[in-house]
Amino acid sequence: MFDEIIDRKNTSCSKYDDLEHYFGKAELNPYWVADMDFEIPPFLQEAIQKRASHNIFGYGKQNKEIYSAIKSWMKNQHSWEIETSWISLCNGVVPAYSACIEAFSNRGDEVIVQTPVYFPLFQYIKSNNRKLLTNPLKENNGYYTMDLEHLKSIITPKTKILVLCSPHNPVGRVWSKKELEELANICIEKNITIISDEIHADLVFKKFTPLASINENVANITVTLNSAGKTFNIAGLNASYCITSNQKLKVNLDKIIKKRVINSINVFGLIAMQCAYENGNEWLNNLNNYLISNINHAIELLHKHTKIKVCKPEATYLLWLDFSLYNLEHEKIKKILIEDCNIALNDGITFGENGKYHFRLNTATSKSYLNIGLNNIINNFK
Ligand SMILES: Cc1ncc(COP(=O)(O)O)c(C=O)c1O
Repeated sequence: MFDEIIDRKNTSCSKYDDLEHYFGKAELNPYWVADMDFEIPPFLQEAIQKRASHNIFGYGKQNKEIYSAIKSWMKNQHSWEIETSWISLCNGVVPAYSACIEAFSNRGDEVIVQTPVYFPLFQYIKSNNRKLLTNPLKENNGYYTMDLEHLKSIITPKTKILVLCSPHNPVGRVWSKKELEELANICIEKNITIISDEIHADLVFKKFTPLASINENVANITVTLNSAGKTFNIAGLNASYCITSNQKLKVNLDKIIKKRVINSINVFGLIAMQCAYENGNEWLNNLNNYLISNINHAIELLHKHTKIKVCKPEATYLLWLDFSLYNLEHEKIKKILIEDCNIALNDGITFGENGKYHFRLNTATSKSYLNIGLNNIINNFK
């Protein structure tokens, strides 16, 4: 079912229809935006089509079943028991994230991000007039770990938030419980709130621990952001949720969500999130098997035929390719990828300064379409 090549052009989709705008070339093969070239599961197609055929699209209602679906998903997938009163719905993880920055800090306060990281996570620190502090991840042969000594050294009394990307986009780490505990203990000691973006939590190839599930003290400083968007390829339906057991944090966050009017999810988003979480377990297992076989295949080819350094991700369908062994300028690598390889990858620099010489490759496509991109890379980076 994942092997089919589906033409996505002219469907108002950013990955295919924004190529001209972002890369100056409409005919590139796209392996950039983090969505998948796969159809949503059949049960979800049916639910959405059934609702669409009703032909009346008035305002949506947030049924209590949505909350039950989120709670069951967290319990069954991640062994995390949460309460309805901990959940706030929102129309996207990034809108929720931006609201969190406003809710848990004041103008001029400092917010820490661990780079390289999904770029909106630092963009919205600046747009909310907060000061960005970076705590670069440590890299060893393509494997990334946290630099907690550096983290401790940059914290000041004005540091109010630490942003965790867990699992991490783009480096593909599933943080271990020990790593998370050590990070959280520093934040507890320094009175720092953690915003934990866990949108990739279901696309994992080893045990994932939700940060707030570790213990009550950690939960007390954590707001978790998540959605079914990545897991079921419904990111365009703009449905997400925030979880925190700390009612003080929740009240502050809800106030900002309301002020920004980002709490009303469209009818398709509501139906899709509930239906996906109620029925999606088996489909997700099949998806993860396909993703890991694509990842293994891509890494094997790149290791065999190129000097690109790439480490097997523990989560996500994203490969973080390091071209530094070619001794080429970053802009030159970018030019070869676009003009000679004819492919669109995400530019590593947008993920932070330590993303230089890196490009992000999305493998969530049919194996045959993935091979087109891989062969073009291999032919141009010997
Ligand atoms: C870490 C991370 N957070 C958030 C998002 C986007 O979330 P949303 O589409 O719900 O705003 C992405 C999408 O790539 C992501 O990788």
